[in-house]
Amino acid sequence: MQLRAARTLVFTRQDGALLGCNFLTRDVFGCDSSLLDLLAETPEWTDAQAIIDGVFEGDASEVESLIRHSALTVAGSALARREDEYLAEWQWTIPTGMLHFCLEDAEIISLEESEEIQRQRIETEPQPALYLRNRDRVPVVPLPEARKSDALLDIMARRRTVRAAASPSISLAQLSDCLFAGMGITGETSNVVGTLPLGMTPSGGARNPYEAYVFARRVDGLEPGIYHYSAIDHDLGLVRRSLPKFSQLVGGQDWADEMPCLLVLVADFRRTMWKYRDPNAYRVVLIEAGHIGQNVMLAATRHGLSACPTAALAQARIRKALGLRRLTDAPVYAMTLAVPGNEPSVTLQ
Ligand SMILES: Cc1cc2nc3c(=O)[nH]c(=O)nc-3n(C[C@H](O)[C@H](O)[C@H](O)COP(=O)(O)O)c2cc1C
Repeated sequence: MQLRAARTLVFTRQDGALLGCNFLTRDVFGCDSSLLDLLAETPEWTDAQAIIDGVFEGDASEVESLIRHSALTVAGSALARREDEYLAEWQWTIPTGMLHFCLEDAEIISLEESEEIQRQRIETEPQPALYLRNRDRVPVVPLPEARKSDALLDIMARRRTVRAAASPSISLAQLSDCLFAGMGITGETSNVVGTLPLGMTPSGGARNPYEAYVFARRVDGLEPGIYHYSAIDHDLGLVRRSLPKFSQLVGGQDWADEMPCLLVLVADFRRTMWKYRDPNAYRVVLIEAGHIGQNVMLAATRHGLSACPTAALAQARIRKALGLRRLTDAPVYAMTLAVPGNEPSVTLQ
């Protein structure tokens, strides 16, 4: 067996202890100077037995533990392939990679736990103001009243997140408009290297990094299943018929299970990375998800639906359900679609 120091390690000190973290696997391990020496001295594939004998006096368990915590990588393993993919593909610096991979598959606390934490916190820590006024500024300029009768502003004002469904299904026409509003390609532009798609939402450099997937549980006129939305052709292609429980994809939020439909936005970072090598482009991609989501939500409102957004995603499960294997494919944002029902209580996480 051949081993090398993992290629995606970062080190920090916490409460006096030195910790290593493999940000691709999110494994954290205690570290001392002899382990740091070992990792520094094994950048290339090295015979495992030589490490066991030379560093650990023949004790293989230490090396097994370092492999388990992904401090050491085994040649030919899935992790070795993923590291190689990371080194070849990831263009947005180590801190951005750390942020991105460490935030995937985050543990999501339950609504009850979240409420308890907030109740305790408010005892000792007042909340920051959730809006600011201009009382201390001079002059203060009153603005004309917003045009509440305007059709567009009216739809915007009616958009609401509702986590209960009044009807078991939505229609294919409703789904179609929501997808088109968020993702539809409505034009094209060109630059020095070719043509670029244009849609109803802005996209940094018109790189169009998102693909939308539909988890259709009850959409009238559509067999249940997972579909890919082709924005250029405005059609749905079946990915697979079997559907996971929606709550398993959105951090265990049970209300999602009664929703007829879930849209998931998956970024293909390669599209934006190809042009923009600087890590600010990572933020650009995340911001774009908000634009797309809002357009979906407004089209949903127009149809009398509520789209409930969530970023509490189980990325690994979503990737598995969609058959996505590339490290640069990132499920970022999702929203359920339903005719809004009565929410038993306001349930905010
Ligand atoms: C990025 C983002 C993530 C959200 N995630 C969740 C979520 O996981 N679960 C949920 O019930 N609501 C979620 N929401 C919805 C907010 O709770 C909701 O927007 C907020 O309470 C304000 O209500 P409104 O949308 O009706 O204006 C999310 C909203 C945004 C913008």
